[in-house]
Amino acid sequence: MTQRKLLVVILAAGKGTRMHSNLPKVLHPLAGRPMIQYLINTVEGIDPERVVVIVGPEMEDVTRAVAPHRTLVQSRRLGTGHAVAVARELLHEFNGEILLLCGDVPLLPRTALTRMLSAMRAADLQTCLVVLGFYPNDPAGYGRLITASDGSLRAIVEHQDATPSQGAMGLCNSGAMVIRSEYLFHLLDAVGNNNASGEYYLTDIVAVARHSGLRCSYVEVESESVELFGINTQRDLARAEAFMQEHLRGAMLDSGVTLVDPLTVHCCFDTKIGRNVIIHPYVVFGSGVTIGDNVEIQSFCHLEQSTVSAGVRIGPYARLRPGATINANVHIGNFVEIKSSVVETGAKVNHLSYIGDGRVGAGANIGAGTIFCNYNGHVKAFTDVGAGAFIGSNSALVAPVKIGDNAIIGAGSVITKNVAANALAVARCLQKERPGWASLRHLHHERGTGKAAQKRRTK
Ligand code: UD1
Ligand code: CA
Repeated sequence: MTQRKLLVVILAAGKGTRMHSNLPKVLHPLAGRPMIQYLINTVEGIDPERVVVIVGPEMEDVTRAVAPHRTLVQSRRLGTGHAVAVARELLHEFNGEILLLCGDVPLLPRTALTRMLSAMRAADLQTCLVVLGFYPNDPAGYGRLITASDGSLRAIVEHQDATPSQGAMGLCNSGAMVIRSEYLFHLLDAVGNNNASGEYYLTDIVAVARHSGLRCSYVEVESESVELFGINTQRDLARAEAFMQEHLRGAMLDSGVTLVDPLTVHCCFDTKIGRNVIIHPYVVFGSGVTIGDNVEIQSFCHLEQSTVSAGVRIGPYARLRPGATINANVHIGNFVEIKSSVVETGAKVNHLSYIGDGRVGAGANIGAGTIFCNYNGHVKAFTDVGAGAFIGSNSALVAPVKIGDNAIIGAGSVITKNVAANALAVARCLQKERPGWASLRHLHHERGTGKAAQKRRTK
C-alpha cells in the first residue's frame, strides 16, 4: 500500500488545573526540558508533513517552546474533541492520516507511533481510526477501551462516565490516535457534551464511528509503561521525572561514568560526560553541561550551562553557573562560585571565592576568599587575571580591572586599579608595630595603673 501523507496535531490547550501551578502544564520540565519538547522531538522523528499544536489563550510561551511548528489557539477549553475541531480550517483540505496526540503524554515512544501507523496502513478502508491502548497499574483517570469480540474497538468510556464494570477494565486509552482525514471532522460534528464533565470528548468519535458503520481498531502495549503515562498532577510529574532520571543515570553508567551513589545524582536531558569520570554523591547537573575526560566532581556540587575540560577536580560544594568554562587540569574547591568566566589551564580556585565575569589565566592561583567585584549596582564589568598571577587571600578585585601575568596581590587587598605584569600590589592599610607595647599593657593591668583602673578608682 502506498504511504499516505501524515499530519500531527498535539493537544496542549488544557489549563492543567490539577497541577495547581501558573505554568502551562506542557511547559513543566522533565530532566530540565519542557515536557512538550520530548513529544515534538519524537514526532519529528517520524517525519510528518506538518505538526500543529493546539494551545490555550495567553500561552505564547508554549508557542515559543514548539517553534517553528504552527500553533492554533483554542479560545475556550471545551474538551479534547473541541480542541481538535479548532484545526478544522487548517486541515480540511488535507488528505492523509492525522495523528492526534496529547501534549501531557510526553514520553510516548516512537515505536508506539510507528506501530499505530502500520496498523492503520494495514487496515481495510472501513477502518477509520486506530487507538493506542495500554495497561497502567492504576487506571484511575484514563478512558477505558471497550473492545468487541471481533478484535475491534467499540467505544472509549471516560473514567468518570464508566460503569463499575467498565471501570474495572484494565485496557486504557493512552490518548494517542491515528485517523484517516476524510472521517475526522464528520465524526467530531456528531460529538455532544452530555457527559460527567460537560466537555466535547475526542474519545466519543469511536462510538460515533461505530454507529455510522465504520470500524475502529487499537494496538496495545502489553505492560504498564511509564512512557505512556499522562501527566495531570505534580505526583505524575514527579513519577515521570524519577523515570527520566533513572534512564539518564543508567545511560551514564553504561557509558562508563562512575556514580558513587547513583540515586543522589540529578541529570539533565543534555548532560554530556566523558570517559573515566567520577561523580560523588549529591551532584546536580542543570541543562547545558559538558564534562570532559578524567574529571572528578566531589559531593554537593551544582553545575549548569558550563563546560569542564579534562582532568579538572571540582568541589565539594562548588557552583558552576551559566557561562563557566573550566579548562584542563583546573582545581575548583569548596564554596567557590563561577559565572560567565573562563578559568584557564591548571589554575586553582580552591576556597570560598566568587569568580564572575572574568578570566583566570593559566596556572594562576586565586587565594581563599577572593571576590571578583563584578557589579556596581548598575552594570557588570570584567576582571582579567593574567597567567601565573597570585591573588592573596581575601582580596577584592573591583572590576573593570586587569592583573598582569605573574603579578602578586597581597592578601586582604582591595584592587581598584590595573596591576602590571610581574608587579606586587598591596592595597590595604600599612601595618604598624610598637615594640614591647603589649607587655607594657599587661604590666599596667597587673599593677592597676592603666587608664581604666585609674578611672575606676576616681569613681
Ligand atoms: C485524556 C483522554 C483519556 C485518556 C487520557 C490519556 C479525553 C476526553 N480523555 O484524558 O481517554 O485516557 O487523556 O492521558 O480525551 N486539552 C485541550 N483542550 C481542552 C482539553 C484538553 O487542548 O479543551 C488537551 C490538554 O492540554 C491535554 C490533552 O488535551 O494535553 C488531554 O486533556 P486532559 O484534560 O489531560 O485529559 P485526560 O483527563 O487526561
Ligand atoms: Ca491528561
